[in-house]
Amino acid sequence: MQEHPITGTIGAEIAGLDLKAPISDDLGRDLRDALSRRLVLVFRDQHLDIAAQKRLTAAFGAPVELPYIVPMADDAQVVRVLKEADDHSGTFGGDWHSDMSFVAEPPAGSVLNAVQLPPFGGDTLFANQVLAWDHLSPGLKDLLDGRDAIHVGKPYGVKWAPPADTQSRGAIRMTRLDPEADRERFHPAVLTDPVTGRRSLYLNPIYVTRFDGMTEAESRPLLDVLRNHATRPEFCMRLRWTPGTVVVWDNYATLHYAVNDYAGHRRELLRTTFAGRPIADWRAAA
Ligand code: SIN
Repeated sequence: MQEHPITGTIGAEIAGLDLKAPISDDLGRDLRDALSRRLVLVFRDQHLDIAAQKRLTAAFGAPVELPYIVPMADDAQVVRVLKEADDHSGTFGGDWHSDMSFVAEPPAGSVLNAVQLPPFGGDTLFANQVLAWDHLSPGLKDLLDGRDAIHVGKPYGVKWAPPADTQSRGAIRMTRLDPEADRERFHPAVLTDPVTGRRSLYLNPIYVTRFDGMTEAESRPLLDVLRNHATRPEFCMRLRWTPGTVVVWDNYATLHYAVNDYAGHRRELLRTTFAGRPIADWRAAA
């Protein structure tokens, strides 16, 4: 397995592997190690079927079935991230976010496997949130350390879920206005890894509505400053998808953004997600 950094700060292309073959314990350990250092791993020319994608996912953590997103009919662990050529609405994941931070135990990471790509555009951006934390001023670190941010699913459901007619044509389908998704979840604004001590800014620009102990109006300007800081170009990489590409990313330490610039073309990828340690363990490590 060879590791080729994509930028100086985030991402690696992993070469020399055929992910259709079984993943040994040693290889699984090397892949987890690479993910913890590079945060986004890109595997080219893999053309994985769903069984191989699930084996890869399981090498990183226990596969999870996420609520609120309608999975594939015959496999509850797999979500089809699909936008049809004639769908002129927004795109799933079309703003900076980490996946599903509004659930009690957000997934540790995601795997996205290209099925059909537009001839241009449809890239995915990723931002390193370990660096985002490291480069905050001491004053802002003091304010955020030990403070919870409040995540709510509703903004996604209302603002970004494709309209009902699009959903019925096969685009990704999300529950809207579910009281469970719309309840407030408290997660630390900075996550401290219980094993490595790694710290990452954990503020989701789509789902975080405010900080604990502060109103939405007080939190908004601060959240805007932090979003701009967290997505500074120096912290980012841009993934150009090619046929057969598979990507794995760390949801606790990155944000990502699906670029909606391929109108008139179909884009389809398959997404699986894996679990990490309970948020309570990260809270205890802080
Ligand atoms: C996602 O947000 O999980 C999808 C990203 C993408 O489609 O590039």
